[in-house]
Amino acid sequence: MSDKAILEINGEKYEFPVITGTENEVAIDIKALRGSTKGVITLDPGYKNTGSCESAITFLDGEKGILRYRGYSIEELAEKADFLEVAYLLIFGELPTQEQLDKFHADIKSHSVVDDDIKKILDAFPKSAHPMGVLASLTSALTAFNPTSVNVDSEEEMYNAIVRILGKFPILVAWTMRKKHGMPLDYGSSSLGYVENILQMMFKNPTSDYEQNPILINALDKLLILHADHEQNCSTSTVRITGSSHAGLFVSLAAGISALWGPLHGGANQAVLEMLEAIKEDGGDTKKYMAKAKDKNDPFRLMGFGHRVYKNFDPRAKIIKVAANEVLSDLGVEDPILDIARGLEKEALEDPYFVDRKLYPNVDFYSGIIYRAMGIPVEMFTVMFALGRLPGWIAQWREMRLRKEPIGRPRQLYTGETYRPFKSIEKR
Ligand code: ACO
Repeated sequence: MSDKAILEINGEKYEFPVITGTENEVAIDIKALRGSTKGVITLDPGYKNTGSCESAITFLDGEKGILRYRGYSIEELAEKADFLEVAYLLIFGELPTQEQLDKFHADIKSHSVVDDDIKKILDAFPKSAHPMGVLASLTSALTAFNPTSVNVDSEEEMYNAIVRILGKFPILVAWTMRKKHGMPLDYGSSSLGYVENILQMMFKNPTSDYEQNPILINALDKLLILHADHEQNCSTSTVRITGSSHAGLFVSLAAGISALWGPLHGGANQAVLEMLEAIKEDGGDTKKYMAKAKDKNDPFRLMGFGHRVYKNFDPRAKIIKVAANEVLSDLGVEDPILDIARGLEKEALEDPYFVDRKLYPNVDFYSGIIYRAMGIPVEMFTVMFALGRLPGWIAQWREMRLRKEPIGRPRQLYTGETYRPFKSIEKR
């Protein structure tokens, strides 16, 4: 591979360096493009061909179905590590020793309370509010209660902000759900593991002890690990670009939560279940919905199928499909929605439209099914995704800060009106 790329515009040749990543991915470094060509830019809506940064956190190869965090395969991490170890790995770059992990967990636990006034903010939301909107608002509001968290020039304050948010975020998640169901708010217990505590905070009945179920702990641990990072996706890019203005961690995360909310991104797991419910209500005719998905005049898409980067299979979907089967059989769940899901999956995997376009079930197709079996309401699914993605967002934000990346500010190709003189209101 040549180490330079040549671009010819109007007979003039420009040379740009070609750089290679550790996994031999190749990029043309066009940092000097606009300056040397006197104003020419690249145009790439949706950024399908544009690298926004160099990053050492997550590697994925969509063609081969590879996903690795800091070099470790997602398959090994899902099998051998727990979520907190993976969080440490993503954020600090190495798997922790037992001592490092204990300190990290102790630091997080020491911040596992939120100011009680947060309850007043939560109370002001109507019960009908979507949990993602509530979560984004509460995460942003945390800044007001932790003002030093905005000091992005101090590594110590950055560390404090990181353990604070890892301690407080599960509380916000659990409270968002409990408030919606009229349940009293709970602070959990510092004697529990990180994931066990999340389950207890979400599900503990006020009048009885919460009995931990190892199958659910294992399934949630896996789900959170699988969602923990996915390089420069929509929400992560949002976190990095928000933080690039030197905004603090909590508000950068709040921006990421908002980006994750949409049905083409994290909202897909909710959309999958809503789609399955709608198919059930309509008589369970999967063929009818397959036909709708293929009809170019119909905006309907088969939610939970297709991925911007995985064009062969989603490695996370493979792992979670196994976990979904385990959870369903261990809990003895019988659910017509799941039969519809299995039917759609089978038909899509055999249908030339989906096969030709390389549209396979993605991680969200199965995660919604597990969350439903666990008793998590559909509207909370994307919140659970955010809970898993938290360490990835933090790691990406921290990397962006430590690399002192410039403020993110894309260009545009203007296609509007050229100059026209102002028209007074009576002449319009
Ligand atoms: N159902 C039906 N057709 C689809 C679907 C789908 N789910 N996904 C893509 N297609 C078709 C498109 O219509 C297009 O067809 P064409 O070539 O005939 O025009 C072709 O497949 C390529 O689609 P694009 O939208 O160009 O693919 P892109 O990579 O931009 O989109 C995306 C990926 C947004 C995930 C898309 O597949 C989709 O909308 N899927 C459903 C939503 C979903 O499950 N999102 C979750 C993603 S995973 C995550 O965020 C963790």
